[in-house]
Order: sequence, then C-alpha cells, then structure tokens
Amino acid sequence: NNETIEQTIERLGAVVPDYPKPGVVFRDLTPVFAGGEAFRAVVDSLLAEYKGRFDYVAGIEARGFLLAAAAAYAAGKGVLTVRKPGKLPRDTYSESYSMEYSENTLEVHQDDFPAGSRILILDDVLATGGTLGATARLIEQAGGIVAGFGVVLELRDLGGRTALHDYPVHALAAY
Ligand code: ADE
Repeated sequence: NNETIEQTIERLGAVVPDYPKPGVVFRDLTPVFAGGEAFRAVVDSLLAEYKGRFDYVAGIEARGFLLAAAAAYAAGKGVLTVRKPGKLPRDTYSESYSMEYSENTLEVHQDDFPAGSRILILDDVLATGGTLGATARLIEQAGGIVAGFGVVLELRDLGGRTALHDYPVHALAAY
C-alpha cells in the first residue's frame, strides 16, 4: 500500500490513558508488532537508517528485544541484551535512571562484544531518554561505541532527544 511508516504506526498504535499510572498516556505498539507487514516495515526502516554503520544490535528489555532480534537477524549481525537487574548470569555493568513513570536499573554483560564494536541500540519508545541514556553509558563502560539509537515512536514533549544530544537518534514516528 501507499501508507508511510509513520502513518502505519499512527494507525495501529493504541493509546491507553492512565496506564500504568494516572496522568500517563501510554502508547502501546504491540499492535504494530503484531501486524506482520508493519513489523517488517518498522525493522527494515530502522536498519536502513544505520546500514553499514554498526557491528551489533542491542535490545532493551523487553520490547526492544523483539526489534533487536529481528534487526540483527536481517542484518546478519549479533544481538545483545540490555536487561533488568539480576537477569544476566555473569559479571555485569549496571546503571540506574529515572523514566516517565518509574525508577529503574539496567545491566549488560561486561564481555558480550569486543572493545571498539559499534552498537546500534533499539527500543520501542523514546520518552525522557532515561532508558536509552543509561544504555549508552552501559555500552561505553563495556568498551563499545554507540552507533546510534533507533525507536519506533518518540514522545516529543518528554524531551528525550535533547537528553541524548550526543548521539544520533532515529524515530520512525513522533507525537
Ligand atoms: N515509555 C515511557 N513513557 C511511555 C509512554 N507514555 N508510552 C509508552 N511507553 C512509554
């Protein structure tokens, strides 16, 4: 069809008021992921932006895993997991941050990739930039170079792009 990727995301994305807390307007992209053509178009668009400029794809738990696995497979690259605390079995680096509606910590294994590797970081939504910023710090602690961030949806009012100004940020749609 003739729809742009942004229109597809707009059409399929669900808006959930007061989830997970009163006052938050949650953007649920699971219907985009569940739309077969839409999911492929999303992954292909994220990859096209960074073609030839990354060695690994990192996904942030949990929705980022879906994007990163598909993107890494399509590009013939390795996939890395950025995980919630206590999930990774070997030595990790750890970073805490605050986001739109919670405080959290993320971890990466210290030795999942060689130093100097270029890492493309994927997640579903860019909100405050807390999650993606913490992930960049983790990748750098582990000796990686952040190739950039790719997200399906950017929530502009939360200022995430400003918070991440040192890095390339590619969003397929923005509200
Ligand atoms: N992550 C942080 N804020 C969000 C929101 N409003 N909708 C979906 N994911 C989010």
